[in-house]
Amino acid sequence: MESTAELELDDIQSGVLRPRPTPYAATYIAFRIDDRKTGRELMQRVSKVVTSAANPTSPLADVSVSVALTCKGLEALGVPQESIDSLSWEFRQGMAARASELGDVGESAPENWEQPLGSSDLHVVLVAVSPDEQRLQTALDRARDTYRNMPGLKAIWRQNCHALETEKEPFGFRDGISHPAIEGSGIAGSNPQERPVKAGEFVLGYRDEMRGVQRTVPDILGRNGTYVAFRKLHQDVAAFRQYLKANSTTVEAEELLAAKMMGRWRSGAPLALCPLHDDAELGADPRRNNDFLFEVDDPAGLKTPSGSHMRRCNPRDAAIAGVARIHRMIRRGTAYGPTLPEGVMVDDGADRGIVFTFVGASIGRQFEFIQSQWINDGIFIGADQDRDPVCGSHEINFTVPRKPVRRRLQGIPRFVVTRGGEYCFMPGLRALRWLSELET
Ligand code: HEM
Repeated sequence: MESTAELELDDIQSGVLRPRPTPYAATYIAFRIDDRKTGRELMQRVSKVVTSAANPTSPLADVSVSVALTCKGLEALGVPQESIDSLSWEFRQGMAARASELGDVGESAPENWEQPLGSSDLHVVLVAVSPDEQRLQTALDRARDTYRNMPGLKAIWRQNCHALETEKEPFGFRDGISHPAIEGSGIAGSNPQERPVKAGEFVLGYRDEMRGVQRTVPDILGRNGTYVAFRKLHQDVAAFRQYLKANSTTVEAEELLAAKMMGRWRSGAPLALCPLHDDAELGADPRRNNDFLFEVDDPAGLKTPSGSHMRRCNPRDAAIAGVARIHRMIRRGTAYGPTLPEGVMVDDGADRGIVFTFVGASIGRQFEFIQSQWINDGIFIGADQDRDPVCGSHEINFTVPRKPVRRRLQGIPRFVVTRGGEYCFMPGLRALRWLSELET
């Protein structure tokens, strides 16, 4: 089949390509398959409610449903070993096994993860997304028919999430702004200055930026599928606020420090376009808030520090060791837990944060690379002692380039703790039916 053709949107799950509505409510439900026939029956049933990127509305009404499987899940369905071996190596290892590469150490280590995350019990993850809690509940009640009365299948974990109207994540920054344009998808990216990225970077079976095409055994298993890494990341919002206050002399300085750490003001306005003060209108304007590059205007990071979260995770055209284009990702972050009311500086003990979701064709070259080389190291920007000040794993140092002298922040506490996560494969719709018809 032609590998550079238009994407087969009707075979790709909508969760891969379609941006989510705003606001929205979402639920993640994880299952363990105890009986392979039941697991196959589940694949058959979900293939009827999963929405495609061509038609993002589900028979379950105003909701979109996606499904993904772990490597243990594919084994539980009886997928032949030869087929499993044709999938990504990191996927086959599972996220917990990759803990040291990912910086999941200390409090974030798999032995401290929320159960059953990271265990071999996690087989299938179903995600339902709806514009509000009520419609989500109705859809979930109907979706429950999909897995009700199926002995041999057990729902073992559930996580409710939401995205507020303001699209703010728990630290208070607008999230969900920057997305790559994907060749052949017809879905626009958010940066008009970024050339669309080859489809094979996000969907298996198409040409990627390295001129390769990922194939699986058989072809139908992988084609139009992708990998998903989800991580439940706890955010210590009170500690973040305390740190900003303790290291600033005025409220304005606090906001500037927060923006330097993120690369954007809390409104979403990028330092690249308004380095001295926030601009709420710009932050909320999707036509302008991601329309910038770094190299010509700000090579030294005087506006947007090279070590800020946003510039680390996507250095765009900035001069770095390596090529940024081959490390792009689709993100689907969703907040969980209660918001810590504005002004509260003491931790209330509630669990809050984001369920960070990576979508892409290469867990190793995209997600793991960014996590280990760009977030938890600084060699690529010539600052090997520094890490990401927002979500670095430990011993965080951060440099704010300034004239006449730079500002060095050392020993920043860790604000984000991994509560668990997993690597999954999100098959195309035909592949779901293939899984349901296995006869091994
Ligand atoms: C709790 C942890 C995290 C928080 C609070 C957070 C928050 C944010 C925010 C507010 C933005 C800017 C808005 C946007 O462009 O959508 C952003 C951008 C981004 N983040 Fe994170 N993030 C977190 C973890 C991560 C992790 C673990 C990764 C990757 C492994 C990541 C990858 C990215 C990428 C790729 C961008 C877009 C950069 C760009 O294209 O400009 N983030 N994040």
